[in-house]
Amino acid sequence: MKISSISCGCPDTDARLMLSCLLPRIYNRTPLCFIHSYGCAQNVSDGEKIAAILRDCGYSFTDSPENADLIVLNTCAVRENAEEKVFGHIGGFKALKEKNQRLIIAVAGCMTQQENILQKLRESYRQVDIAFGTYGAEKLPEMIYRVLTQNERFFTNAESGDMINLPQLRKSVTTASIPIMYGCNNFCSYCIVPYVRGRERSRTPDEVVAEAEELVAAGCKEITLLGQNVNSYAYGFPRLLERINSIDGDFRIRFVSSHPKDAGRELIDAVLSLEKVCKHLHLPVQSGSDEILRAMNRHYTTEDYFKTVDYARSRDADFSFSTDIIVGFPGETEEQFEQTKALLRRVRFDNVFTYVYSRRSGTKAALMPDDVPEKMKGQRLRQLILEQRETAQPWLERFVGKEVRVLCEGEGRKRSLAGKCGENIITEFDGESGLIGSFVSVRITEAANWALFGELV
Ligand code: SAM
Ligand code: SF4
Ligand code: F3S
Repeated sequence: MKISSISCGCPDTDARLMLSCLLPRIYNRTPLCFIHSYGCAQNVSDGEKIAAILRDCGYSFTDSPENADLIVLNTCAVRENAEEKVFGHIGGFKALKEKNQRLIIAVAGCMTQQENILQKLRESYRQVDIAFGTYGAEKLPEMIYRVLTQNERFFTNAESGDMINLPQLRKSVTTASIPIMYGCNNFCSYCIVPYVRGRERSRTPDEVVAEAEELVAAGCKEITLLGQNVNSYAYGFPRLLERINSIDGDFRIRFVSSHPKDAGRELIDAVLSLEKVCKHLHLPVQSGSDEILRAMNRHYTTEDYFKTVDYARSRDADFSFSTDIIVGFPGETEEQFEQTKALLRRVRFDNVFTYVYSRRSGTKAALMPDDVPEKMKGQRLRQLILEQRETAQPWLERFVGKEVRVLCEGEGRKRSLAGKCGENIITEFDGESGLIGSFVSVRITEAANWALFGELV
C-alpha cells in the first residue's frame, strides 16, 4: 500500500503530511471527524490514539455524525448485541453517505479484526470505505488519502502496526487512562478478546512512568492503568504502582482489570501501602460455581477468591471490590446460579457488572451447547441485579458518618455535584460548579444501593 507514486503536488511522501496537504484543497475548510468507541476502557483509549493521528492530518472533531466528513466507529466484539449495535449504526449512516458523497466511513477495532465481519462489511455495507482491526491505525491516513484520490476501499485485519506506543489525544486530562499492556493470554473459554487483540505485550515501565509524569504536570487528578490482566504486566505490576505513586503531585491511581488467579497478597499489600492507589479492586469473578469456573478456564476456585477478599478485609475492613458476572454460561444449572447469588452475599461488592452469556464463534465455549434458554438467562440477570441491590444497600452504609475524598467530575442525579470516592463509588453532594475537576472532602449522610450522598466538609 505504498502511496509515494500518487501525486498530490506535495513533495512529501509521509502519508499524514500528504493528507494534511490534500484535505483543505478538497473541502475548502477544516474537515470534521466523528469518532465513536464502543466497549471497554482500552478501546476508548485506542479511539483517542486514532484521534491523535487524525488531528495530525488536519481534522477537527465533531460530536455529531451528521456534520462529519469522516466517521470512525471503533468497535467491540465482546457480545453479540455489541456487534448488532454497530451494524445498526452503520446502516443508519447510509443516508448520510447518499447526501454527502465525500463522506468517508471507517470501521475499526475488535469487531473488524474478525475475517467474517470484514467480509460482511465489504459485501453488504457499500457505504463503508475503510475497515481495519485492532492494529494498523497508523495506515489510516494512507487509506483515507487513497479513498479520496482513487476511490478505493480498504478491508484489512493484518496483525502489524501495533497501536501500543502511539500517543493519545485525550478528551479529559482530569481523569486519564494509560494502557500499560495490550492483548490477553488467558483464553477464558467464552471470550473473544485474545483472538481479536492477540497475545500480551507490555509497555516498558519507563514509557508508562514518563506518560504519567506528563499527565500529572498537565493537571491530571486520576490515572487509570489499563490492561486485560494488569497482574501479568511483564515488568512487575506492584513495582510499576510504586513508581507511579512516587511521582510528585496530588492525584490518585486506579487500575483495571485484575484476574483473580494472579491477584494475591502482594497486590493487596501494594495497594494498601501506596497512598495514591485507591483501595479498590475490580476483580471479575464471573461465577460462584467451581464447575462453571473450570469450564470457563478461569484457573481459580471460589475458595481462592474468598481468600483474596478475606485477606484484603483483614487488613482494611472497608476494602472495596467490584466484579463482573456472566449468567447463562453453557450448562449453568439453577443450583450453580444460586451459588453465584450466595457468592454475592458472601463477598459484598460495591458494584457488580452483570452480563448474559453470548456465544462467540471461534471460542472454546462456542463448541458447548448454548443450552440455557434466553428467557431463563434474562430472569437470572434480573435476579442477580436485585440480589446486588439488596446486598449493596447495607454494605454501602459503612460509609455513613465518615469523611471521604471525592474527585468532583460533574453534575449529580440527586444533588448538584457528583464524583467518585477512592472506593470508586458514585458520591453526590451540593456545591458550586467551580469545584468540578478538584478533590473535595464529603461527609457521608446517606447511602443508596448505587451511590453515597453527603455534605461538603
Ligand atoms: N479482562 C477482563 C477480565 O478478565 O477480568 C475482562 C475483559 S471483558 C472485556 C469484560 C467482561 O465481559 C468480562 O469480565 C466478562 O464478564 C464479560 N464477557 C466476556 N465475554 C463474554 C461473553 N461471551 N458473553 C458475556 N459476557 C462476556
Ligand atoms: Fe477475556 Fe479472560 Fe482475557 Fe479477560 S482474562 S480478556 S475475560 S480471556
Ligand atoms: Fe474491549 Fe470489546 Fe475489544 S470489551 S477488548 S472493545 S471486544
